[in-house]
Amino acid sequence: MSTKGSRNYRPNIHFTPPAMWTNDPNGMVYVNGIYHLFYQHYPEAPNWGPMHWGHAVSRDLLHWKHMPIALYPDELGMIFSGSCVYDRENTSGYGTKEKPPIVAVYTNHGRHGLEQQSIAYSTDGIHFEKSYQNPVIPNPGISDFRDPKAFYNPVKNCWSLVLAAGDRVHFYKSEDLKRWEKTGEFGPEGNLASGVWECPDLFQVEAEDGRKLWVLIVSMTTTTEDGRCRTQYFLGDFDGDKFIQQQKEEEPLWIDFGFDNYAGVTFQNLEEPLFLGWAMNWGYANETPTGEYCGQMTLARSLRAVKTEKGYRLAASFAGLEKYQHSAYPVNHMQRLCTDTFGMKVTGTKKITLSNAHGQKLVIQVTEDEVFVDRTHAGEHAFHEQFQMPQYCSVRIPRMKQDGKMELIFDVSVLEVLADDGLIPVSMVAYPEAPYDQVLLEGSGNVELYEIRE
Ligand code: FRU
Repeated sequence: MSTKGSRNYRPNIHFTPPAMWTNDPNGMVYVNGIYHLFYQHYPEAPNWGPMHWGHAVSRDLLHWKHMPIALYPDELGMIFSGSCVYDRENTSGYGTKEKPPIVAVYTNHGRHGLEQQSIAYSTDGIHFEKSYQNPVIPNPGISDFRDPKAFYNPVKNCWSLVLAAGDRVHFYKSEDLKRWEKTGEFGPEGNLASGVWECPDLFQVEAEDGRKLWVLIVSMTTTTEDGRCRTQYFLGDFDGDKFIQQQKEEEPLWIDFGFDNYAGVTFQNLEEPLFLGWAMNWGYANETPTGEYCGQMTLARSLRAVKTEKGYRLAASFAGLEKYQHSAYPVNHMQRLCTDTFGMKVTGTKKITLSNAHGQKLVIQVTEDEVFVDRTHAGEHAFHEQFQMPQYCSVRIPRMKQDGKMELIFDVSVLEVLADDGLIPVSMVAYPEAPYDQVLLEGSGNVELYEIRE
C-alpha cells in the first residue's frame, strides 16, 4: 500500500485518475473535437492490480472529465494496454456510416500469463461492447505478446498494428479490424538497450526540412542499473508490412532523459503526432506518497524531427498551453511564486532553483555543455529505496543545440523540461512537502514565467 503523503500532491493540469491506480495511457484517439484518454487502471487500490481501462475525455488536453470505466477484466483475463482507432468508414461493421465506431484493440492477460489480442467497439464513445470473436490474435507461443497499437496503413490502405513480442515487435494487417494477418517483424537487431519490449507505436513525422520519416517507439522494462524503464525510438521507413530502420545509431535514442516518462504512445486520428506517456517509473510507482491516487500522465507533446550533427532526432513541444504562454512575464534573479503550477521559457545558460520553506530544492540547469536536473533534495524521498539512489536523483545530458531554448512546466509534483528546443526532454516527479514558493535564477540569459491558474 502507498504511504499517505504529507500533502496533496495531485497535479492540476496533468491527468490523474479520480482515485486509485493508473499506469500506461491506452487507446488515445481524437474524435469530433474530443481527445479520448483510456488508461491502465485498478479501481480498488492505489497500486497495481487486475487491470481495467479507465476513461477520460478532454477538449484542451489539460482539463479531463472522468468517464465510466470502459473495459472490465473478463474470462480471457485482465485488460492490458492497447489502442483505439476511429473507424470512420465503418470497415468493422460495428457502427454505421453516420455513426462510425471507435474500435479498441487490447491485450487480454489471462491465467498463467497467457497474452492475446482482443477487440471491443463503441458507437457513443462511452460504452464498449467486446467482440464474441475474441481473441482476434491468439497467442503464438510467446510469453510477452502484448500492447497492440493499431493505425491506418497509408501504404496498403488498410489497418495495421504493431505489438510487442518478447525482444522484438510484430506487425499485422487487417481490412476490418477483426481478421488479422501477420506481415513482418522488427528486432532485436538494431536495438541498443536491454529489457523486455513493451508498448510499441509506429507513426510518421515530418522533419523541418520536409523529409518524412517513420518512427518506431518501444518502451523497455530493464534493470535498476539501467533506469528500470525508458522509452526508445528508431527512425526509418515503413513499407506497408514492416518497419525498416534507416538511421543506424551508436547509442539508443530516448524519448525522454528523465526517470518518469514511460509507455507513451501517440493519439490516433490526428494529422501530426501527439505523444503522451505515464509520468512514473515502475521502480517505485507502487509506493509514491500520493495517497488516494497513484500515477499521472505527462502533458501531451507534439513531436517533430530535427536534423542534428548525429542525424535526425525527435524534438517535443507542449501542446495546449498557448493561452497561458501568451501571459509570460520576465523575471530576474529572485521571484516569489504564488502558484503551484507554472511554466517558464528560458534562453541562455541558466541555473533555476525552485525552493520551499523546508529548504527543499529542485534544480534545473543549462550550461554550455549540458542540461542538468537534480531532485536529490527536492522533497520526500524515503518512501522507496530506489527513489533515493543517486542514479535516480539527477541526470546530466550533453547539449544537442547550442542556442537552444528551454521550456519547462512544474505542476505540484511533476516537472517536465524540454531543453534545446525540445531535443532534450526530462520528466521527473518530486514531492516537496510545502509548495515551492521561491525561484532563484543564476547565470546569463532570460527567463519568462507564466502562471497556470485553474
Ligand atoms: C507497461 C505494461 C504493459 C502492460 C501493462 C500492464 O507499463 O507492462 O506492457 O500491458 O503495463 O498494466
